[in-house]
Amino acid sequence: MTSLKDIRSTFLDFFEEDGHQKIHSAPLVPQNDPTLLFVNAGMVPFKDYFTGAARPPSLRATSSQKCVRAGGKHNDLDNVGYTARHLTFFEMLGNFSFGDYFKEHAIEKAWELVTKDFGLSPDRLMVTTYIDDDEAWNIWKKVTGFADHKIVRIAGSDNFWAMGENGPCGPCTEIFYDYGEHVPGGPPGSPDEDGDRFVEIWNNVFMQFEKENDEIVRDLPKPSVDTGMGLERIASVLQGKNSVFDTDLFQTLIKASEELTSTPSDEERAPSHRVIADHLRSSSFLIADGVTPSNEGRGYVLRRIMRRAMRHAHLLGATEPLMYRLVPTLVDQMGEAFPELKRAQAFVEDTLKQEELRFRSTLGRGMTLFETAVQGFRPGDMLDGQTAFELYDTYGFPLDLTQDEARRRGFSVNVDGFQHAMAEQRARSREHWKGSGQQASQGEWLKIRDRLGPTVFTGYENVDGSGEVLAIVKDGRPTDSVAEGETAEVVFDQTPFYGEGGGQAGDQGEISWPGGSARVIDVQKPGGDIYAHAIEVTSGTLEIGTRAVLSVDPSERLATRANHSAAHLLHAALKNVLGDHVAQKGQMVDHERVRFDFSHNAPVTEAELAAMEAEVNAVIRQNLPAATELMAPDKAIEAGAVALFGEKYGDEVRVLTLGQSLADQKTAYSVELCGGTHVARTGDIALFKIISESGIAAGVRRIEALTGEAARQYLEGQAKVARGLARDFKIQPGDVPGRVEGLQTSVKALEKQVADLKKQLALGGGSGANAAPEEINGVKLIARVLDGVDGKALRGVAEDFRKQVGSGVVALIGVTDGKAAITVAVTPDLAGKLNAADLARAAVLAMGGQGAGGKPDFAQGGAPDGSKAEDGLSAVRAALA
Ligand code: ALA
Repeated sequence: MTSLKDIRSTFLDFFEEDGHQKIHSAPLVPQNDPTLLFVNAGMVPFKDYFTGAARPPSLRATSSQKCVRAGGKHNDLDNVGYTARHLTFFEMLGNFSFGDYFKEHAIEKAWELVTKDFGLSPDRLMVTTYIDDDEAWNIWKKVTGFADHKIVRIAGSDNFWAMGENGPCGPCTEIFYDYGEHVPGGPPGSPDEDGDRFVEIWNNVFMQFEKENDEIVRDLPKPSVDTGMGLERIASVLQGKNSVFDTDLFQTLIKASEELTSTPSDEERAPSHRVIADHLRSSSFLIADGVTPSNEGRGYVLRRIMRRAMRHAHLLGATEPLMYRLVPTLVDQMGEAFPELKRAQAFVEDTLKQEELRFRSTLGRGMTLFETAVQGFRPGDMLDGQTAFELYDTYGFPLDLTQDEARRRGFSVNVDGFQHAMAEQRARSREHWKGSGQQASQGEWLKIRDRLGPTVFTGYENVDGSGEVLAIVKDGRPTDSVAEGETAEVVFDQTPFYGEGGGQAGDQGEISWPGGSARVIDVQKPGGDIYAHAIEVTSGTLEIGTRAVLSVDPSERLATRANHSAAHLLHAALKNVLGDHVAQKGQMVDHERVRFDFSHNAPVTEAELAAMEAEVNAVIRQNLPAATELMAPDKAIEAGAVALFGEKYGDEVRVLTLGQSLADQKTAYSVELCGGTHVARTGDIALFKIISESGIAAGVRRIEALTGEAARQYLEGQAKVARGLARDFKIQPGDVPGRVEGLQTSVKALEKQVADLKKQLALGGGSGANAAPEEINGVKLIARVLDGVDGKALRGVAEDFRKQVGSGVVALIGVTDGKAAITVAVTPDLAGKLNAADLARAAVLAMGGQGAGGKPDFAQGGAPDGSKAEDGLSAVRAALA
């Protein structure tokens, strides 16, 4: 049997031999297109090569690209588990020509691969072309010798492929595989083409045009080729299976989930096992690429996928978290082709486990609500939107999870009702929501970026330089000039200003030109790699075409550099001190401080923080030069560079090396891929001080730290406090902790004394004189209102009174903060005759409270209004009388 691994390498090797450069899959989070949720086709990372906005490393490329189709426009989530070939995560094999070969070579090579290397019989194959693409039709005729009816012309979007509303597009030609007469379905273009008999295995797109807002606006600089072959789908064909879930990789995953849940993948349970296998892949790869479960955007799509799988694990009767225990099998199967998965394994497992533990706490209760709501339902009935919303809002059930459960039983969900309930809640919280202007002009920025291409960044070497104004955006719209007193975002051909990215803030500074000047407040990269300078014009007018002098504030840049380099050292120290499971989860450095988020499941101890601080400062004192090298990504990772989540894998990456290992003095202390600006020598950081450590989300901790002058000022501030205390106490600073400890001990002793005195006062100043009981119906009663005595203290007082009275009832009402605590005690000889709980309840009710609890000889309760205490005691008297 040809395994998935073999098919992948056969494809890539075939095209490598044909002069294509093998490119590793880009991360699932698109690096060059903020409008796209996830990479969903092989060509996405190469978009700029097709449009000419960036130069490809080679004119021919081949890849096996990770794709996710869940959430957003291409959403296959609902179908997974119930059909033979829908997956949320899949690999797309592709070969690409960036203005190199075109239709003829693409078709010839495609035919050669499927019939020779993959050995598929031409009898089993047929193809489609775009309706008027005579050229492609004739090439197919020549290459295959097919009868005319096996080369079908198709009109419409099926054979015209577009990335989305914007981006490259063109006519395409598809290859179909015929599973044979025993499977229902017709050839493409026929009425029953949706059956499972004829399956599309490969799409070859002839990229020729570019779209904007869904309209073709121009020709691409050069005709190009983009192809896509779903790896899992071709595997099912080559392995003679009708379903992708019957292929080798999925069978291995399903076997593992069968074993861990001790349930077979029989007819009833097969959908659950399939969902778990598919969702395990999408969740794990998304987490490895830096997405973590949350309640919005990409994070929420991930959460939906994870929870859907977790409910299926629950359906299979799993009594403890399941998903994370399947990760080793997945890594075993796919870790070689995707080293990023292997590197993130511990973090993936941990994230899955935490999410599953969290969801399990509400899953059961949510299911109970669901069961109650559908009681008496018959197939075809619809669950109301309000319940679906409550499941979502209170029990964390994503809508599709509720729909999935309903569908399994033949019901549906009122989606409109759900949306309505959701909209109502949104309207309530809209007050807190602020739209961002940036969002509104995102489309504009993409257009500008496509027109101008990337900005050249000159800031690694310099803090100033000159640049020509290429674009001005005011209030979200392109314009020609910006005048004194106005603000705008400006793009230059080149700039020394760093644009916020990779966890480093944008630079601030000044720009000037003949006749004017402006302040640079921030720099962002809205279209991926175009630098938008947010400026405020202080004098004159800035126009398109103006050449200006750009100057970054040098002292801020120095501080930012020190903080960024310190963040790298901290990252290495975290791994050394806490362990290899520590993965960077986020970072923000600017000229003021370092903020570093990382995965770790417990608070970091004082001792651990001290150890990390000592390490980082030791590396600072080495004062070795920082080394930056440009490398191919694979080389960089081989050299030990820490690959950051979501790092763009371009043709070359910057690798930063800092310091020398403290253990062996031979290897580097820190090696990371990084596009930020850094110190020249570690000594430039001068001093490193951690100022806080806290938890910010489940399994994610945050450290904040300072460097250089800011760290010195912080330490000086702390020292000042210590000196002030020493002066106040008139002792040496070193003696302050001992003095404070002594004070704390004596405060505790005094507090105890005060409590004892209060109790004695309550008991009648210790003389017993005030304790004289009244007598009702032959029963002795001590009834008191005690100001300032809380329920806990009341207990002890009541015990003492009970001893004093010998035989009788004690009813005490303590009043603190305006509220009342009621305690009633009955001596043992009266048990059976009188019930303390009944008496306490009578008092509580008389005071407007709810009730009391306890035993027949001792009961307590509370009431909201302490001013009614005497009413409470009267009620007790009445009950005795
Ligand atoms: N980009 C084309 C597709 O996704 C090949 O089908």
